[in-house]
Amino acid sequence: MLQQLSDWLGSTYLSAVLTDTTRLSNWLIIPISQSVHILAVAIVMISVGVLNLRMLGVGGTRQTFAQLASQLIPWVWGGLIVLFLTGVLQTVAEPGRELLNIGFQLKMILLLASVAITIFYEKSVKSDPNYWEHSPERRSMGRFLAVVSIVFWVGIAAFGRLIAYLDMRLEGFES
Ligand code: HEM
Repeated sequence: MLQQLSDWLGSTYLSAVLTDTTRLSNWLIIPISQSVHILAVAIVMISVGVLNLRMLGVGGTRQTFAQLASQLIPWVWGGLIVLFLTGVLQTVAEPGRELLNIGFQLKMILLLASVAITIFYEKSVKSDPNYWEHSPERRSMGRFLAVVSIVFWVGIAAFGRLIAYLDMRLEGFES
């Protein structure tokens, strides 16, 4: 199914435009998109990093977890929209390199799990600002989720970078 999706994306007009290296204006789209992708990675990683460290009790305690969540989570969603748009552009340009790549696939699975944890954070403090301070069990669960979330976000960034090295279509790999 991914092979068919990849073949179809590769045959679209947009893909042809993005891979037309004879025109400077077309050629510039992907490098610019990659640069914006990296800037958005920084915004998302800083936001989720600060939030998860607060959950672990690291750093200042001037603001509660709920206050930090209401300030930082909108940056996570904004950054993810930019990441999605720029990521899709790069995927349409080279669908085989991305969709058929184990690095890309693992990145997407980790991303779904990390988004689910962030939604849980957001919903929990909206329903009760002291949700994570109610009991030692809640605090332990919060710390566990924070560790999982940090590991997953780092994994997402690492697999994003590794896509370039895990291209199974390159010579030397079994197809
Ligand atoms: C929202 C959906 C996302 C999509 C569709 C997407 C897609 C992509 C694509 C197609 C590439 C190019 C890989 C290549 O061909 O070498 C890429 C690179 C990368 N992505 Fe994403 N991405 C998304 C979200 C994220 C997130 C959330 C992070 C980390 C917080 C991230 C981190 C990276 C990194 C570090 C690179 C490598 C950039 C480079 O080496 O220049 N991406 N992504």
